[in-house]
Amino acid sequence: MVGTRPEAIKMAPVIVALKADPRLDVRVLATAQHREMLDQVLSLFAIEPDFDLDLMRHGQTLPELSARLLTSIDSVLTREQPAAVLAQGDTTTVLMTAIAAFYQRIPFGHVEAGLRTGQMETPFPEEMNRVLTSPLTRWHFAPTESARDNLSRMCIPSSRIHLTGNTVIDALLFTAAMEIPLDLGLDPRLKLVLVTTHRRENLGAPLTAVCRSIRTLVQRNKGIQVLYPVHPNPSVSAVVHRELGNHPRIILSEPLAYGPFIAAMKRAHMILTDSGGVQEEAPALAKPVLVLRQETERPEAVEAGVVKLVGAVPERILQESERLLRDQTAYADMAKGVSPYGDGAAAGRIARVVSHALAGEESAHFPALPSARPTLRRVRGGPSYRPQQPSRAANPQPR
Ligand code: UD1
Ligand code: UDP
Repeated sequence: MVGTRPEAIKMAPVIVALKADPRLDVRVLATAQHREMLDQVLSLFAIEPDFDLDLMRHGQTLPELSARLLTSIDSVLTREQPAAVLAQGDTTTVLMTAIAAFYQRIPFGHVEAGLRTGQMETPFPEEMNRVLTSPLTRWHFAPTESARDNLSRMCIPSSRIHLTGNTVIDALLFTAAMEIPLDLGLDPRLKLVLVTTHRRENLGAPLTAVCRSIRTLVQRNKGIQVLYPVHPNPSVSAVVHRELGNHPRIILSEPLAYGPFIAAMKRAHMILTDSGGVQEEAPALAKPVLVLRQETERPEAVEAGVVKLVGAVPERILQESERLLRDQTAYADMAKGVSPYGDGAAAGRIARVVSHALAGEESAHFPALPSARPTLRRVRGGPSYRPQQPSRAANPQPR
C-alpha cells in the first residue's frame, strides 16, 4: 500500500525486495491520498501500481478521507484476498489499511513501526495513527531500538517485532549515488538553506512565525539563499507564498521530485524542516537539521547531536541558524555524518520476514544493526533513475 510521498519513498525498496522473491506475487495498491507527489516517486522508482484508487481531493478533511479510504481499500481486499498486507508509517492511508485488513482477517505488516512522541496530539493526527495501528499489526518492522522498545512497552510480544532499520536509508543510498541535475537557478556563491514544512499542528500562527523568521534570517545574512519547495496543502502554500514571495534570495518552488530533492539536500549548508523523513535522511548526508517542532518521534539523531529541535519559535530559529552560519565548530559538530536510522539493507530484512512467515517457516530475526555511517552505493539490480514528468498511474480504478 502506498498513499503519500513519504510512504512511496520508504516502500519502494520494500516493493523491489519483495518482487525479487519468486515465491511471492506482489501487487501494489496506490490509494493516492497524495496525487502529484505520489506520482513523482512512483515514476522515479519505476513502480506501476496494480490498483489506483485515485482518492485525493483538494482540501480533503481527515474524516472524509478516512471514510473513502476504508471503503475503497476494503473493496480491493474483498476481491483480491491477499495473504498479507504491508503499509508504511503513520498516515491516514496506513491506519485505514490496518483496519481494513483487520476486518478481513488478513495479517498486516507495519513498516516503520513503534515511533512515538508520547503526546497523542503531536504530531496530529500521526501519533494517534501509529498508536492505533500497532494493536492491528502482525509484523512490526521497527526501524530503531527505541522504536522496538516503545512497542515492547505496549506488551507486543518480541516474536512479532523485527528490528530492521529504516527503509528510507535504502531509498536514500540508491538515489544519492546518482548525479542529479538541480536546475533551480541557485547562486553558487551563496550558502543554501533548504526549508520544508507541512505539519498540521504548525498550520496557522506557527507557520506564519516560521516564515517570518526565515525572512528575517535572509535579510540579516546576505551570504545565504533559501530554497523552499512548498507543500501543496493549500493551508501551507497560501501562507508561505504570502510571507516569503518576491524576495530575490528566497526560491519558492513546487515540491521537488525525490532525486532533485536529495540533490538539494547534498548541496545545502543546513536544513530547516518539520518533516519526519528529512530528519532521517539529512544526518546520513552530514547535513545539520533544525526541526521546526517542539518534539520528535525520532530521538536518535537529536541524541547524536546532529539534529536540534527549535520549534516554531522565532528566537530559537534565528539563534540556532545563525550559530550554524557563523560558528564553524558548532557547524562541524552537527555535520558529522552519522546515520542512526539504518544501513541501507532494511527492505531485504522485511521481505525475508514476510516471505518466511508466508511459507510457514520460522521468521527471521536479525543481529543488532551497525550504527556506522553507511557508504553511498547503487542498489544492485534496482531500477535506474528516470528524470521524467510525473505521470498518472496506469489503472485509474481498481481492477
Ligand atoms: C499527509 C500525511 C502526513 C504526511 C504527509 C507527507 C495524514 C493525515 N497526513 O499530510 O502524515 O507527513 O502527508 O507529505 O495522513 N496535495 C496536492 N497534491 C499532492 C499532495 C497533496 O494537491 O500530491 C494537497 C491537496 O489539496 C490535499 C492536501 O494537500 O487535500 C493535504 O493532503 P493530505 O494527504 O490530506 O495531508 P498532508 O498535509 O499532505
Ligand atoms: N521530499 C521530496 N521532495 C520535496 C520535499 C521532500 O522528495 O520537495 C522527500 C524527502 O526527501 C523525504 C520525504 O519527501 O524522503 C518526506 O516527506 P514529507 O516531509 O512530505 O513527509 P514526512 O516524512 O514528514 O511524513
